[in-house]
Parts: sequence; C-alpha cells; structure tokens
Amino acid sequence: MLVVTEAIFQPLVHSIRKSFSSLCKTGGSHIRFKFPQEVEEGISRQITAELDAAYAYFSMASVFGRDSVALPGFHELFKEFSNEELQHANHWIDYINLRGGNAKFQSIKAPPDNVDWTPLCAVAKAIDMETKMTQELLKLRELAEKHNDVHAVKFIEDDYLVEQYDGLKKLGDLKSQIERVGDDGVGIYIMDHNILRKYEKKKTPCD
Ligand SMILES: [Fe+2]
Repeated sequence: MLVVTEAIFQPLVHSIRKSFSSLCKTGGSHIRFKFPQEVEEGISRQITAELDAAYAYFSMASVFGRDSVALPGFHELFKEFSNEELQHANHWIDYINLRGGNAKFQSIKAPPDNVDWTPLCAVAKAIDMETKMTQELLKLRELAEKHNDVHAVKFIEDDYLVEQYDGLKKLGDLKSQIERVGDDGVGIYIMDHNILRKYEKKKTPCD
C-alpha cells in the first residue's frame, strides 16, 4: 500500500517543487523588454564615469579644506559637485534596474594627490571634465538611438543633457568671475566668503 502511495504522490511532489523553484529563481529579469545589451553596457560605463568624476571633485574639495589653503566656500562647492556625481551614478543604477538590466561595476580611477588646486585651475579642470562627460552622454544617446531605444534616448536627454549644459554655463561664469578678481588675493577671499554664505543659508537652524 505504501509503495503504491509513493508511486502516485512522488511525481506530484516533484512537479510542485519544480514550479516553486522556477518562481523563486533569482537569475534573469521578469520585466526586461527591448533593452539592448550595448545600451546596458554603455550605461554601466557611464556609472563608472560618474563615480570617477565624484572621486576627482572630492579630492579637489579636500585641497580647499586644507589649513594651508583655507577656502571653505570652494571646499563646500566641490563637495557639492562630488555629491551631484554620486547622485547621477545612483540615478543610472535605478534606470538599469527599471529596464530589467544589471549594472556592471568597474574600478574607479584614483585622482592625482599631488596637485595644489587653485580655484581657477580646479574650475578649468571641472569645465574640461564636464565637456568630456557631455560628449560621452551624446555618444550614449547616439547608441540608444541606433538601437531604437526610445526610452533611453528620452531619459538621457531629459535627465542628463539639459543639466549638463546648465552646469557648463555656471562653470563658465564662475571661471570668468575668478579671472576678473584674480586667483590669489583679496578678490578670491571675498568670492570664497560669498560662496560659503550660500551654503550656510542652505543649512537648517538644527544643523
Ligand atoms: Fe554627472
């Protein structure tokens, strides 16, 4: 009798287990739809580029915070640039997940630690970095368009390209203002003070 029962129920148990294991398997997306692999790889490279930029801005912020440099306004400004790049990297990761893809993480470059950044050099470097970042975003947009990935094209245009051009304009203005007042002396002291006041105003009374 026992042998007969096992013979009947064994295939049933096996089939139930199989259906559970296929429901709970972790590999493979359930929502991926028309998300080209080349675009996914391009976005992963973009995540690394954003993290590289965040690290570079962080290192510049650290120079302005030194007691031998003492430009607290530029220290806060470059920390904000760094935080923005980290937010961009996070936003890209959310986007890859939204499309049912996987972010692939690569090593990020250590910025040079022997540069005595002045405000003018650092802002010029920021313009250079942001120009290259914009070029990379345009290439990524082209790649998405080549694959007819309309969603990715719109995301790049709306969430990144608009901000890139606005950011470049602000950096260009900042460079002109530094050139006008001079990179060392009372002019840059006043400018730094004004930048710092903006950050102090942003803080809540509880900070
Ligand atoms: Fe960025």
